[in-house]
Amino acid sequence: MTDYPNLGLNDGRRIPQLGFGTFKLSNDDATDAVKMALETGYWLVDTAAIYENEGGVGRGIGEWSDIFLQTKIWNDRQGYDETLKACDESLERLGRDHVDMLLIHWPCPDKGKFVDTWKALVELRDAGKAKSIGVSNFREDDLKRVVDATNVVPALNQVELHPGFQQRELRRVHDAMGIVTQSWSPLGQGEGLQRDVIQRIAAQTGKPASAVILAWHLQHGLAPIPKASSRDHIKANFTALGLTLSEEQMAAIDALDSADGRMGPDPADFC
Ligand SMILES: NC(=O)c1ccc[n+]([C@@H]2O[C@H](COP(=O)([O-])OP(=O)(O)OC[C@H]3O[C@@H](n4cnc5c(N)ncnc54)[C@H](OP(=O)(O)O)[C@@H]3O)[C@@H](O)[C@H]2O)c1
Repeated sequence: MTDYPNLGLNDGRRIPQLGFGTFKLSNDDATDAVKMALETGYWLVDTAAIYENEGGVGRGIGEWSDIFLQTKIWNDRQGYDETLKACDESLERLGRDHVDMLLIHWPCPDKGKFVDTWKALVELRDAGKAKSIGVSNFREDDLKRVVDATNVVPALNQVELHPGFQQRELRRVHDAMGIVTQSWSPLGQGEGLQRDVIQRIAAQTGKPASAVILAWHLQHGLAPIPKASSRDHIKANFTALGLTLSEEQMAAIDALDSADGRMGPDPADFC
């Protein structure tokens, strides 16, 4: 990973900045897509128990060593004991004795269990089953609650983030707390590619529209995890690593932010 762009985590480890998402890929498709992604050069693969493709992802990684693998505890497994069991089951499906990053998928505030779930993640990290631990879809108050309870700051928060929904307030909170921001749906689920501003910058730079958006994430110090199924898309997205946007191009994409640009569920009431 020496030449690959990476970010420092608050636990002393490092995380590859550009990753590969696998949501909506079946087990078989995940195996093929992950293989293509690793052949292309990606160093991080993101999955989750709820994607029902951990087996396929594990087979796709196969004998590749040093790949940064992350998975997530689903909402119905929250709570201390359930989380310990859910992690073992994920490792079994992945065919590994540890993951590099284990996340709580959603806070599910109404369940009132995410603090106990976080305590289990700390235990799993201490046991070596997860090298680093973090959260996903956590809001500022959720982050503060787990830190107050355990003194352990999540290494990362994986949140919905794309040009149409930029999460500036939460990013400031992350920066103040030393938390890496990982962007899910970084391409706006593909819809962001058609925007005029993105198409104009793609024409100016001679790069794919997806690479323009991903370069914007990377230049902001974010860690995007685009999902793609075909080799063409996987390769096009990877060309973001060779693209530097000008200040004017960054500002033009910054201006696409919208308060109501959320595409996925709201963490306040999703579980
Ligand atoms: N923590 C969470 O709650 C959460 C929620 C959602 C997602 N995630 C993670 O974030 C990852 C990415 O998010 P996402 O899958 O929702 O959305 P995304 O990565 O923003 O967009 C994926 C879509 O864009 C298309 N696409 C990708 N590259 C393209 C290209 N070069 N040209 C044209 N179209 C392209 C894909 O089509 P093809 O498949 O046809 O290539 C797919 O339809 C997920 O896979 C998952 O790992 C996490």
